[in-house]
Amino acid sequence: MSTVITNIGELVTNDPAVGDGLGIVRDAALVMDGGTVAWTGPASAAPAADASFDAAGRAVLPGFVDSHAHLVFAGERAEEFAARMSGRKYAAGGIRTTVERTRAASDDDLRANLRRLIDEMARQGTTTVECKSGYGLTVDQEERAVRIAAELADEVTYLGAHVVPAGWDAAAYTHLAATEMLSACAPHARWVDVFCEEGAFDPDQTREILQAGMKAGLSPRLHANQLTQGPAVRLAVELDAASADHCTFLSDADVDALASSRTVATLLPGVEFSTRQPYPDARRLLDAGATVALATDCNPGSCYSSSMAFCVAVAVRDMRMTPAEAVWSATAGGARALRRTDVGRLAPGARADVHVLDAPSHIHLAYRPGVPQTAAVWKAGCRV
Ligand code: NIG
Ligand code: FE
Repeated sequence: MSTVITNIGELVTNDPAVGDGLGIVRDAALVMDGGTVAWTGPASAAPAADASFDAAGRAVLPGFVDSHAHLVFAGERAEEFAARMSGRKYAAGGIRTTVERTRAASDDDLRANLRRLIDEMARQGTTTVECKSGYGLTVDQEERAVRIAAELADEVTYLGAHVVPAGWDAAAYTHLAATEMLSACAPHARWVDVFCEEGAFDPDQTREILQAGMKAGLSPRLHANQLTQGPAVRLAVELDAASADHCTFLSDADVDALASSRTVATLLPGVEFSTRQPYPDARRLLDAGATVALATDCNPGSCYSSSMAFCVAVAVRDMRMTPAEAVWSATAGGARALRRTDVGRLAPGARADVHVLDAPSHIHLAYRPGVPQTAAVWKAGCRV
């Protein structure tokens, strides 16, 4: 079954060979066949297809690639958010509240919550979702989390080292996370992640777990420099991690290390919004030559938003990104952070992840913050 989208006012391809950074083609058409893009080009030259969709002059983008989310959990922490808004600081320890709720939930409840969030994301134009474990923190509970994540998410990350659970010594828990827990989880995951931060895991513990994960066939990514200016970003670069996530507090050495590496700086502005922290400085990273991705970090603690459009708007308003840079980072940047070449772009051979905006241009995502602007979405050629 093939579908042609006609009358596209602005097609964002992210093709570096086409014009500006977003590879924009005006008055365009796009054909998807099965799950992939078969053709893009001028509307006047569009081939026929089994079905057609009139974009009516609106903008068409690659689906958002949300490369950082924690979606296998139960319960919520609205009271903690309210307390923060009246002055309490965010701390890693809040994770343990969600651990208790998650452990008590049935598989079906966790699955239903995950499904609800992935659907919520898809309705807002997100077609690739990374999902981490990290609210189980026992061998069986972490195995259950990655197994359920693998049923529904595009990318699965083992984050057994999210926080040291109550009653555990940090060294003993690190050892467990790097051995038995890792072996149970590795078959269901592609990535290994650690929350390297004061109050979570120190750099030596982080290295132990990431290196064990790599030996088990997983690729590293890292929660780095979220709350303090520690060595986590440089550790991510040293291990050729696909991504260093958060990057809120960076030294010049961190920025230089990212700029001269393949490690993407994934910025999560919803977290700074929801924890009243300063926003990361995307301009500093971009000017130094680093690759920047934007993601939600959707989780019940530090940011309970699944909206990539919101991240784009905040990144433009408060992180000194242009609308084009922010849209690139939320699509192609996320794909880089997941080392994927089939998503985050619209060209023949790419996965048919298509986001029709209810707007004439990608600029409207930041220009009209808070306004729902998703008109239609296809994921791998299937209408959402
Ligand atoms: O990315 N920083 C660590 N983990 C999450 C927060 C998880 C939580 O507070 O429940 C984050 O911000
Ligand atoms: Fe996170």
